[in-house]
Amino acid sequence: MAIDGSHPHDPQDPQDPHDPYGFDTVDLSWLRAKAGVKWHQDPELLNAWVADMDFPPPAVVLDALQARVARADLGYADWGYPHPQTPACQVFADRAARRYQWHVDPAEVRDFCDVMQGVQVMLHLATAPGDGVVLHTPSYPPLWQTLQAMGRRQIDVPARVDAAGVHFDYDELERRLTSEPAKVLLLCHPHNPTGHRFAVEELVRLVAIAERFDLLIVSDEIHADLTYDAMHVPIASIAGAAARTVSMHSPSKAFNLAGMRHAVAHIGPARLRDALLDLPDHFVGAINLLAAEATVAAWEHGDDWLDSVVAHLDRVRLRFADLVATRLPEVKHRPPAATYVAWLDCRDTGLGDEPFLACRAAGLKVSDGNDFGPSGAGHVRVNLATSTAIMELIVDRLASALGPDRA
Ligand SMILES: Cc1ncc(COP(=O)(O)O)c(C=O)c1O
Repeated sequence: MAIDGSHPHDPQDPQDPHDPYGFDTVDLSWLRAKAGVKWHQDPELLNAWVADMDFPPPAVVLDALQARVARADLGYADWGYPHPQTPACQVFADRAARRYQWHVDPAEVRDFCDVMQGVQVMLHLATAPGDGVVLHTPSYPPLWQTLQAMGRRQIDVPARVDAAGVHFDYDELERRLTSEPAKVLLLCHPHNPTGHRFAVEELVRLVAIAERFDLLIVSDEIHADLTYDAMHVPIASIAGAAARTVSMHSPSKAFNLAGMRHAVAHIGPARLRDALLDLPDHFVGAINLLAAEATVAAWEHGDDWLDSVVAHLDRVRLRFADLVATRLPEVKHRPPAATYVAWLDCRDTGLGDEPFLACRAAGLKVSDGNDFGPSGAGHVRVNLATSTAIMELIVDRLASALGPDRA
């Protein structure tokens, strides 16, 4: 590691043509010196929990931030008053058309400080305490915790995971909705923690259900850029969906910018755009100048880096799955179709509901499956956004915590 704690590899000076951005060069001493929560909280452990990548963000983003600081131009932004829109809204619309063939009117895009803020504001505007909200489970913790904190009634769509993939029973959901009314389908697409990428047929079915039961769709698509075998399909691009859908996007997962705090929402329903305008103008805060700068740089100039990081994560997820299958035969796992998190079913290891404790005792910090709701008991979530060598160390520690020869 360089003396000043900076990353040792200059991403603009590629050393290995097979790893031009140095994803396999991250080293543990550099990670352990970082101030972010992933490595700072327990630097002595091997950290594979919270969803940050171990790689530096793309140089194009760092350069844009440095250029802004170098101009010493950090005053109030000129983004419109009283209803500002950052340049990221237009950039988002251009990119949606280019990348997803999804045509979005930039006038319908709004900024938020983060994805969860956008989700909460939409639930605040569209629902009241006691209203039903459909949620696929297990679920990214802040989604179900939001429903609990806001007093919304959670209607589960439980995942059944087998060797063929992740399945949800939509006949059962329709039956439930007939007797248990709901207002919103809160989708996490792609799905955290199972890594499920909703296929077009599934999205079509969900839109039909939303039409039949008159549901607003709030779709958290923060992992959209991290799919492997097929491109992400935004649910709002399915026929009939756009006018009832709010889609949340952010560069924070795919470009490793979670600390910047910025997201955008395409808000299809005009009544929700109007309701948002009616809120007092400081109610949802304002966007940080540098965060918007980072988003624009990532979305305008980050595609080459993104392609490389997805190719790296693809190799890592497949190698991880092979190693788990050989060394941890009692653990059920299939490689995620999207996201860089692996969802491990450890219920046959005999370690009970909290296998993350055995991992911790073996020096490995993973996410506790229980945080993802009751169906997460006996599971752990492992963050694979790291080098191949660190992933292999993670497997070593999983093997000593959960494997057949564990101490
Ligand atoms: C599905 C999902 N939604 C939202 C977030 C958090 O987004 P933000 O920090 O923008 O609220 C994450 C972070 O891991 C996530 O996985």
